[in-house]
Amino acid sequence: MERSSFGTAPGGQPVEVYTLTNRQGMEARVTNYGGILLSLRVPDRDGRFDDVVLGYDALADYVADSPYFGALVGRYGNRIARGRFTLDGRQYTLATNNGVNHLHGGLKGFDKVVWTAAPFENDQGMGLVLTYVSPDGEEGYPGTLTARVTYTLTADNALVFDYHSTTDSPTPVNLTQHSYFNLAGDGQRDILDHVVTFNADRFVPIDATSIPLGPLRDVTGTPFDFRRPTAIGARIQQDDEQLRNGIGYDHSLVLDKGGQPGALTLAAHVLEPTTGRVMEVHTTEPGMQFYSGNFLDGTLKGKRGAVYHHRFGFALETQHLPDSPNQPAFPSTILRPGEEYRSRTLYRFSVSGA
Ligand code: BGC
Repeated sequence: MERSSFGTAPGGQPVEVYTLTNRQGMEARVTNYGGILLSLRVPDRDGRFDDVVLGYDALADYVADSPYFGALVGRYGNRIARGRFTLDGRQYTLATNNGVNHLHGGLKGFDKVVWTAAPFENDQGMGLVLTYVSPDGEEGYPGTLTARVTYTLTADNALVFDYHSTTDSPTPVNLTQHSYFNLAGDGQRDILDHVVTFNADRFVPIDATSIPLGPLRDVTGTPFDFRRPTAIGARIQQDDEQLRNGIGYDHSLVLDKGGQPGALTLAAHVLEPTTGRVMEVHTTEPGMQFYSGNFLDGTLKGKRGAVYHHRFGFALETQHLPDSPNQPAFPSTILRPGEEYRSRTLYRFSVSGA
């Protein structure tokens, strides 16, 4: 595995880039700053390799202003309403960084810390174990949380994320990966023609601040029904309260787990028709945030001079449902001492119509 310097984090720690490769030529570059997936090169139907994730060339750009490009998100992916929750009768106040709400771990979430990285190679492929110990009280969270995330690039073109955590005090945990994909390659155009299929028959409706609003909704008859292959852009302009509240798709889908909570199941299938690239998402998580890159507006200059305009990338963030610490009807995200948090998501790449 190749390893090189990616500069120095604001705290003075040296930051590295690790290049994972497999026999088929797939390549993932990962830095231990925020666990960011910097690039992911996968073949199209003609065997041409392109980078299918958005991001920057330099560490300074990630530090200065990044909408979580490629990052590991924690302690809590998505929002916690007003940055407040009660646990075992005690009220906790978290950093608020998204209007009045807490988003993606706060002001300095897991996407902005330097992880300890240990490269490995085994019969599954090659990868990196990233470890971070989040101190008690960080961003307002209770307990010392030891997080370990393993990235593995497999021989069959999958990038696997294995998450593990333990704590010394009860705390919410909801880790995810925030890569923005554009399977056409190099983030050169919008993602509206990508054809997606989601294994979800319900979604979490949200208010105008993206906090869950009322009970889970059936996708039937709504622009959120992706149970059959449908272009992302097919209904995104519809006059729909939920699309207005999300400014497009920015919603958590409740995955159909076939009656087996925690099982590794297919959550999403994505086809980019011009290149034939296919990405499948498999996860043990109950939910997946589908974000259609609504806040990209052409102000961020990405890799190799790319300008990321509106909806030039989409994210499929596998995780628990938003605001779970305040939503008793949602699966619990509370980790207690003596328990282990474990979660697996894999993104597998192939081609169609070769
Ligand atoms: C959120 C969006 C947010 C984006 C980038 C997504 O997970 O749901 O609302 O803009 O991350 O921060």
